[in-house]
Amino acid sequence: MASKKLWCALALGFLLPFSCAHTDFFTSIGHMTDLINTEKDLVVSLKDYIKAEESKLEQIKKWAEKLDQLTATATKDPEGFLGHPVNAFKLMKRLNTEWGELESLVLKDMSDGFISNMTIQRQFFPNDEDQTGAAKALLRLQDTYNLDTDTLSRGNLPGVKHKSFLTAEDCFELGKIAYTEADYYHTELWMEQALKQLDEGEVSSADKVYILDYLSYAVYQQGDLGKAMALTRRLLELDPEHQRANGNMKYFEYIMAKEKEANKSSTDSEEQQEKETEVKKKDYLPERRKYEMLCRGEGLKMLSRATVHDPETGKLTTAHYRVSKSAWLSGYESPVVSRINTRIQDLTGLDVSTAEELQVANYGVGGQYEPHFDFGRKDEPDAFKELGTGNRIATWLFYMSDVSAGGATVFPEVGASVWPRKGTAVFWYNLFPSGEGDYSTRHAACPVLVGNKWVSNKWLHERGQEFRRPCTLSELE
Ligand code: OGA
Ligand code: FE2
Repeated sequence: MASKKLWCALALGFLLPFSCAHTDFFTSIGHMTDLINTEKDLVVSLKDYIKAEESKLEQIKKWAEKLDQLTATATKDPEGFLGHPVNAFKLMKRLNTEWGELESLVLKDMSDGFISNMTIQRQFFPNDEDQTGAAKALLRLQDTYNLDTDTLSRGNLPGVKHKSFLTAEDCFELGKIAYTEADYYHTELWMEQALKQLDEGEVSSADKVYILDYLSYAVYQQGDLGKAMALTRRLLELDPEHQRANGNMKYFEYIMAKEKEANKSSTDSEEQQEKETEVKKKDYLPERRKYEMLCRGEGLKMLSRATVHDPETGKLTTAHYRVSKSAWLSGYESPVVSRINTRIQDLTGLDVSTAEELQVANYGVGGQYEPHFDFGRKDEPDAFKELGTGNRIATWLFYMSDVSAGGATVFPEVGASVWPRKGTAVFWYNLFPSGEGDYSTRHAACPVLVGNKWVSNKWLHERGQEFRRPCTLSELE
């Protein structure tokens, strides 16, 4: 889709380590609003089609009723009926022309307008990738915000205006998407939810046998043999001839027997070792966990300070990308932008003439920007070379909207969360006065859970600040 390419070009042109996920349809409210409007147009044209089809049927019905009466009278006394010359003429006319006209009416296609509208609009529809992307965003939100599957399925999210729930079929769909990602943890959660909703009597086309098939496999993959067996047993009650389930059952029994054998010879020292690794896990909280805790608004007080700081850690994060849409606004284009720039200059005492243009970004539901630094590191030598104004000395970030839930800006190293409030802003220095990067400025935009988030930021650069923020002698002062 053209707009997606444009977005990628923007991100890449900026030389930051964004990767271009094609699944960004759902991350910006603007694009999604277009889709809502498209859908509304389609409903209008579908209703027009229904009206046309109804009026056609109405005409046919009238004809049938008229003929019904007529033939009833005629058949009672055919000779008497045809003795009237007008009746004779009308019978000729009906059979020669009127039935033919009716045939044409019956065959007439009323769907033209709707179908051609559909064909045009379909070009702009989301595709499978978009659907999978939106599903993965839901799963990601579920993790980040520790959302219970049932709560999510019933749509009980904080701050929602338009409650919406998932059907058993929707849950099954989410489970299948997790399954194709080999994400058995979420497969289990969502298949179980689908099953639960069916057990509660939800009317659905989702099939318990299929759900149990996925569910037992996901459970088995996660090592719970007993539960996998119970689920398979349940499947076999519904479908005793199920081939795979019968095969699995035999296999599970075999494994179970083997495990029992092995357990007899296991030693205590193994258990001790397990406990030790557990303790180690708790001591060391990876950035991912810290980030998610801050996003949920859970302080970091109970944590020990991060020990070693490896500037390379950023590279380790699995999906290090930014999900939002952005545009650059120049001061030349609008007096408002120019006024904003001047205000930032007045407030910070820093020269804005060397700054980048004002960037406006929109994060839709699931939109986020994972932990990153705004300044260029030494290992990325020419991040801002083209600009010729040095490194990003400071960041000014405006919140232009409230966010119903989620969407905080968090600083995992510092342990701080900033909640977006329309009309507020944050400012921080990315560099020490010496010009060295301050690694404690690592920060992230948490995924939006409900609502959407508009921000704008100004990245101020080193050039022009020589007398405004003079250099110090020590590196990290
Ligand atoms: C950025 C950024 C944070 C936010 O754009 O560099 O860190 O909350 N944004 O949008
Ligand atoms: Fe940033």
